[in-house]
Amino acid sequence: MLEIRDLHVKVEGEEREILKGLSLKIPKGEVHAIMGPNGSGKSTLAYVLVGRDGYEVTKGDILWNGESVLEMEPEERAAKGIFLAFQYPIEIPGVAGLTFMRSALNAVRKTRGEAELTTPEFMKLIKEKAHKLNIDMEMLKRPVNVGFSGGEKKRSEILQMEVLEPSLCVMDETDSGLDIDALRIVAEGVNAMRSKDRAMLVITHYQRLLNHIVPDRVHVLADGRIRKSGGANLALELEKSGYAEFQEEAA
Ligand SMILES: Nc1ncnc2c1ncn2[C@@H]1O[C@H](COP(=O)(O)OP(=O)(O)O)[C@@H](O)[C@H]1O
Ligand SMILES: [Mg+2]
Repeated sequence: MLEIRDLHVKVEGEEREILKGLSLKIPKGEVHAIMGPNGSGKSTLAYVLVGRDGYEVTKGDILWNGESVLEMEPEERAAKGIFLAFQYPIEIPGVAGLTFMRSALNAVRKTRGEAELTTPEFMKLIKEKAHKLNIDMEMLKRPVNVGFSGGEKKRSEILQMEVLEPSLCVMDETDSGLDIDALRIVAEGVNAMRSKDRAMLVITHYQRLLNHIVPDRVHVLADGRIRKSGGANLALELEKSGYAEFQEEAA
């Protein structure tokens, strides 16, 4: 279970709060969606969950399986099964996708008390998963994300997720450039990863993605807090009414 309690966050070195008392619970086995206007703090929440530098938690707590993660380094959180799909949107010149995924997987396996995979074992695993996702192995020999199209980046993210098998998946679907192909890749990836042992958080500005995912719960994030929660229908209501209601209240 992910439990976020009264979370207050600001950017390091700045006064303005971005998250202002956000509380949320996601039990294992469920897929929750967070929707909200631009600038409401959705990406900030994703970054704070994985422990990205530059943000300061001034109040509240984040518990994963009953344990606070706030003092943990990003690697430790990853080892506890926390994964952000947009964790490595950046290009990593000089590091081949295969090498990158292998070291990430071995690091996670180590903390799970599992042995490292041999090269043939690793290649077999990757080939199977890549084939399923329609990923050309040649693409994985190239440096991570360098020159990838939007769809290719999405595929490679979902591949990372399937290989690492995290128990908490956070997907920050940024507002730009999710074309139909990318949308379908993400939706199929999420649906394939649904499991009673896994909690998933899908962050999205648009309702479109949720036509294909159908979350258990939908939350509206506005002005740094969860302003409304409901079932999958809430996403449809928001599509009609927009976020004006929440933005007015926030002003
Ligand atoms: N590193 C940062 N430095 C300065 N301001 C930031 C930083 N990260 C986020 N913000 C600000 O915090 C607010 C929330 O941003 P963000 O979390 O990206 O929102 P969303 O993902 O919902 O669009 C915005 O006003 C944004 O400008
Ligand atoms: Mg964002």
